[in-house]
Amino acid sequence: MRVGILTRNAEAWCSTQLRKAFTNLGAEVESFWFTDLASRISFGPTVQRRDKVDLSTHLDALLVRPIGRGSLDEVLYRVDTLHRLSESGLCVVNPPRAIERCVDKYYALSILQANGVKVPRTVVTEDHELALEAFSELGGDVILKPVFGSRGMGITRVTDYEVARRVFNLLHYHRFVLYLQEYIPHGRSDIRAFVVGDRVVAAMHRRARGWKTNVSQGAKPVAAKLLSEQEDLALKAVSTLGCLVAGVDILESKNGRYVTEVNSQPGFRGLQSVSQVNVAEEIAKFVIGYVKGS
Ligand SMILES: Nc1ncnc2c1ncn2[C@@H]1O[C@H](COP(=O)(O)OP(=O)(O)O)[C@@H](O)[C@H]1O
Ligand SMILES: [Mg+2]
Repeated sequence: MRVGILTRNAEAWCSTQLRKAFTNLGAEVESFWFTDLASRISFGPTVQRRDKVDLSTHLDALLVRPIGRGSLDEVLYRVDTLHRLSESGLCVVNPPRAIERCVDKYYALSILQANGVKVPRTVVTEDHELALEAFSELGGDVILKPVFGSRGMGITRVTDYEVARRVFNLLHYHRFVLYLQEYIPHGRSDIRAFVVGDRVVAAMHRRARGWKTNVSQGAKPVAAKLLSEQEDLALKAVSTLGCLVAGVDILESKNGRYVTEVNSQPGFRGLQSVSQVNVAEEIAKFVIGYVKGS
């Protein structure tokens, strides 16, 4: 079996762990990035790699690591290319449709809510005045997020009306979409559930100094064994968005348990540091089994 890892940096920690895990299970691994590809229309292979192989017949599966930040052109081209590969019969993990849903915080949350997954009250608008109205509606304590973002970057908490006015005006001026969410008082800790297939294979609490609990922002991973309700919520969120491998962020407060996002290209270095399970191996085993079964 030949597995591709689509990664910007083949030597990055997660990509290395995955390469080792697949290799240990007898698969051949090839790592490459979008810039190694040319997508063709009306002649030749649909997606050809720099070394001229036709990707969809050459590989048995393609594992997608973070598709990354990029220009609008780049991001759309990358997702479209994954769609073309998937449509030409290649097993792409995660499925491009799931990636597309998850990377867009607005789209993802609306699908989750429509399917009965509890998510925080959220308002998304292009207009700064409507955003200011929403700021008050959401209790004057909001988390402002980029619609496309990760690792807690660009996320801010706004609690002051005048600061909100100023920030919304500026973001509006620079043509950002305003994404405001009620602040969930989570006590500086949240849950990250790591789902592979239909199982939570590992989980952690992320303990932070402030309200932002991303490990990349300095939060500390602490091993966790989840309650069955917590696992069920994570599994429901993941299957609703159509992921095969995902990291689910869950915030808990006295008002309930909320899913804030499903990461379709999750890192697992922090999680691995407190987990007995070999996360990369779980992913590799799953992907190999999935390809064999399909
Ligand atoms: N509504 C919220 N209330 C309180 N904290 C939040 C809320 N939304 C996000 N956070 C905090 O910010 C972090 C990053 O938010 P998240 O939506 O997961 O975006 P990212 O993709 O950047 O990780 C979360 O892990 C959590 O600690
Ligand atoms: Mg997150």
